[in-house]
Amino acid sequence: MSNTEEKYRLFEEKNKIAELGGGQDRIDKQHAAGRKTARERIDLLFDPGTFVELDKFVTHRATDFDLEKTKFLGDGVVSGYGKIDGRLMYVFAQDFTVFGGSLSRANADKIIKVMDLAMKMGAPVIGLNDSGGARIQEGVESLAGYADIFYRNVMSSGVIPQISAILGPCAGGAVYSPAITDFIMMVKESSYMFVTGPDVIKTVTHEEVTKEELGGAMTHNSKSGVAHLTADDDEQAMMMIRELMSFLPSNNLEDPPFKMSSDDVNREDKKLNDLIPDDPNKPYDMKELILSVIDDKHFFEIMPFFAQNMIIGFARLGGKPVGIVANQPAMLAGVLDIDASTKAARFVRFCDAFNIPLITLEDVPGFLPGTAQEFGGIIKHGAKLLYAFAEATVPKITLITRKAYGGAYDVMSSKHIGADLNFAYPSAEIAVMGSAGAVNIIHRTKLGDQTFIDSAIEDYKNNFASPYKAAQMGYIDEIIYPKDTRKKLIQALEMTQNKSKTNPAKKHGNIPL
Ligand code: HXC
Repeated sequence: MSNTEEKYRLFEEKNKIAELGGGQDRIDKQHAAGRKTARERIDLLFDPGTFVELDKFVTHRATDFDLEKTKFLGDGVVSGYGKIDGRLMYVFAQDFTVFGGSLSRANADKIIKVMDLAMKMGAPVIGLNDSGGARIQEGVESLAGYADIFYRNVMSSGVIPQISAILGPCAGGAVYSPAITDFIMMVKESSYMFVTGPDVIKTVTHEEVTKEELGGAMTHNSKSGVAHLTADDDEQAMMMIRELMSFLPSNNLEDPPFKMSSDDVNREDKKLNDLIPDDPNKPYDMKELILSVIDDKHFFEIMPFFAQNMIIGFARLGGKPVGIVANQPAMLAGVLDIDASTKAARFVRFCDAFNIPLITLEDVPGFLPGTAQEFGGIIKHGAKLLYAFAEATVPKITLITRKAYGGAYDVMSSKHIGADLNFAYPSAEIAVMGSAGAVNIIHRTKLGDQTFIDSAIEDYKNNFASPYKAAQMGYIDEIIYPKDTRKKLIQALEMTQNKSKTNPAKKHGNIPL
């Protein structure tokens, strides 16, 4: 074997060692737990053959606890760049087979390198998290590594999309970095997020809780609202991230990617004329409306299990990505509560940061009354949604399908807080409150006289429980037939596509956090 051949052989051998991570036994354990390895996940995520790995031969530099005797090439994270649908993306994938994917100074530097490159090149970062957090043996060096990552997460926020998948048991920094990113995907029954695990909780608070109950996918997708998406397995998680990226621009200076559709932009749907029930207290499914008007019924819903009285998600109209924010009358009558407000507010801010027009579909009886909401700070949390809609400078198009009562009328992207086009169906009711409630208050002394009350309710309905008063004032630009919704929304998007609006120069606003 020539000298050169020997060098190539050594190189090949090192590559193979690096690709084995923590070794075959640990890889088998990972597979037995129903999880893929870091490299397998990256292969599923990127277009075939596009992944370029960086820092494959990095090792840790720690010497405490005899750590110098245990080194793995790559040191527990696989990082680099590749393509999704031909577009550049950066990735880091923690390798649980090496020290439980924990963060060392050396592997933090690898993550930082891709984050810095992503900012320079204006491309998204996808973090595939599978890590026990800071590498305990490295102490403050590891904590410093996390803080360096958090800092970059914050600096990148609103500049490039940052997506996190949680694909194993993640603790400490491995959950705080994702928390700063835009979307968190979890895998059912194989991924967990917690700041402190069940054992610590048992010691400190004597509570007994399983890993799944404490920080499983459904806990964070339906109870805490920490996570936004769920997948059945790693493979589906990677496919869903690919789909999510198809709606997003690569950075805040780009428009989101246009995708041609054969769905006719003028398509009518006569069924929509019968969607809104005559009885204002009868629910209907707002998703039927969404699916009917968007391109090819393709709706990518975000947080589908959390605060289901509010629907948020991405779709396309005439090929252009939009963010949809919609009250769901089929759940709690579509009322605005703390969870619905914070869910929608963050989504509105994401769309605004990344030039994604907002379509608001409104049917809301107001804010949810009650001590639980008041003590929980509905004033502050509801204000977040108001703030988010008001500061958003992307095209904002609102359609009132039925109720737009009280403060919720103002909040849900009303004309007054900057919506560009406000539509209403003939069935819209724009008023301070419902007719019965209003009459109960303004005619309190005559409540015994049912005939009077009935006629007062009818009067109120005719005067206020319609879109005409608002249309007279110019607060509603156009009253439309439901069957024409798709065409009207697409026309509105076209009309607003060159919108140029900036808010007053400031360091940043002070959203009521
Ligand atoms: C070093 C770690 C590690 C860590 C796991 N390992 N976490 N090594 N530092 N943080 C190692 C284990 O020793 C083990 O090595 C291997 O990874 C697999 O771990 P297991 O415990 O066998 O796996 P499992 O039972 O699935 O449990 C996973 C786990 C648990 C839930 C993540 O390991 C765990 O609780 N780890 C500690 C979590 C933690 O407290 N991290 C510090 C957070 S503080 P061997 O060689 O035996 O296979 C932090 C600060 C950031 O992150 C700042 C936040 C704001």
